[in-house]
Amino acid sequence: MQDKYKSSAVYQIYIKSFCDSNGDGIGDLNGIRSKLPYLHSLGVKYIWVTPFFCSPMADNGYDVSDYRNVNPMFGTMSDCEAMIREADALGMGFMFDMVFNHTSDEHEWFRKALAGDPKYMDYYIFRDNPPEWSSVFGGPAWKFVPSLGKYYLHLFDPKQPDLNWDNPQVREELKDVVRFWKAKGVKGFRFDVLNLISKPANLDSLPAGSGVASCKDGPHIHEYIQELVRDAGIGDMITVGEMSSTTLEQCKQYANPSGSELSMCFNFHHLKVDYKDGGKWTLMPPDLHELRRIFSTWQEGMSQAGSWQALFWCNHDQPRIVSRFGDEGEYWKQSAKMLATFVHLMRGTPYIYQGEELGMTNAHFTDISQYQDVESTNYYRIMRDNGVSEADALAILGAKSRDNARTPMQWTAGHEAGFTSGESWLTVNPNHTEINAESEESDPDSILSYYRQLVQLRKDYPVISEGDVRFIDTGNDKVIGYERRLGEVRLVVLCNFSGNDEAVAGVDVKGKVLIGNYSGSHKMMKPYETLAILEG
Ligand code: GLC
Ligand code: CA
Repeated sequence: MQDKYKSSAVYQIYIKSFCDSNGDGIGDLNGIRSKLPYLHSLGVKYIWVTPFFCSPMADNGYDVSDYRNVNPMFGTMSDCEAMIREADALGMGFMFDMVFNHTSDEHEWFRKALAGDPKYMDYYIFRDNPPEWSSVFGGPAWKFVPSLGKYYLHLFDPKQPDLNWDNPQVREELKDVVRFWKAKGVKGFRFDVLNLISKPANLDSLPAGSGVASCKDGPHIHEYIQELVRDAGIGDMITVGEMSSTTLEQCKQYANPSGSELSMCFNFHHLKVDYKDGGKWTLMPPDLHELRRIFSTWQEGMSQAGSWQALFWCNHDQPRIVSRFGDEGEYWKQSAKMLATFVHLMRGTPYIYQGEELGMTNAHFTDISQYQDVESTNYYRIMRDNGVSEADALAILGAKSRDNARTPMQWTAGHEAGFTSGESWLTVNPNHTEINAESEESDPDSILSYYRQLVQLRKDYPVISEGDVRFIDTGNDKVIGYERRLGEVRLVVLCNFSGNDEAVAGVDVKGKVLIGNYSGSHKMMKPYETLAILEG
């Protein structure tokens, strides 16, 4: 059933920051409903909404306390049903976000576990003498419960205890959650940090280290995914798994063409090319050589296996791509278009994260009090405790914090960027006076118009949706190029990742320019130029 999404793009909504319908400063389901025509005009077929289920919001909804109910801060079940119906009428489908590696510590199951109920203690992972693992958000991955005399595992925040997928009852509970939302009419699912669910068998004897590194791609991972997909009956829906620190070999299987597991995966190797010595809380320009190596290995490897990929630069956990690998200054527009072209013409399904289609930039917060994200505030403290100066710690957060992606969607140049009639929960980026949907809407040269064209090209040209992919030599490290082929048709895509003119050597192509951001030639590329040339 891959055909359904080969020619489609997916739009990601971070609900808290998308559109507020009732003036309380928090985005909501009715806000999404009001923007469905906008999403329809962008041409996307699927809409992934981040979790809006009941939650104490320790990690903005990635800590679910009730999988079957809507958090009142986001609306009601009838708003949700209306949202699904209205999207359907416009030919779009929702993908809901299933956070199944962990629950909130306020979930009924965990409350019962803490009260010592053995049935529910077996829903989680309790140990007497656990290995010394670190959590993703800083600090240890095990928390001691004095009343039980045991530690529980939380790969993320202590308010996100990990579920025990080795317990068949847990797997049945989670299948039921999927069936529940499927029955409401959603068209697909995104599964949060899915490759962490199968914990190692010899957990107690494992060495100290990162919890995630110890748990990724565990012993029963494929079996558990297959069981979930089969029993919940979602094999013919669009599904994407978020895979933490995984490998190409694993992803070939997760997204294998038989459809026994998932439609596609997110992996993050390409978003670590600006991590100095592999560390997130550092500053380094992107290593373009490494970027090319990663994309060519994954694109060609997945293609040869017939497995499908999710293509993306941005999500609610990543800084804004134009600030990161592009240019916020003179070449803002060109670089945003180049980065868009690079992923949208590859083999896979492209994801557009809210505001990316406008060229939204990082937040540029100047004070730690502006940050809300648990990971950012934790790491600020950790950096300061380790002797990093305030200015340096703020510069690192300024480049790396997840809040960079979470500032409100910039709809207009007016009050709070048109996101809310009240006061936004997170500071709006002051550049909304320049960068906003309203002004880009009517401008044929805008980044928004360019994204619309890219989404349409994927529908119109089978070479984009179906073709093979091969990376080509451009004779220049700054210019990354690839070609797509289907029968006699060849599409050559060239992207200049630098702010200078760059010469290209050895690329032989004659044909019509399908899309580009200058009216240039492929022999000498202008700053952040991109060009897609169709032959045959
Ligand atoms: C995923 C989510 C992220 C969340 C984490 C824990 O990486 O995208 O936002 O904090 O999982 O659920
Ligand atoms: Ca609201």
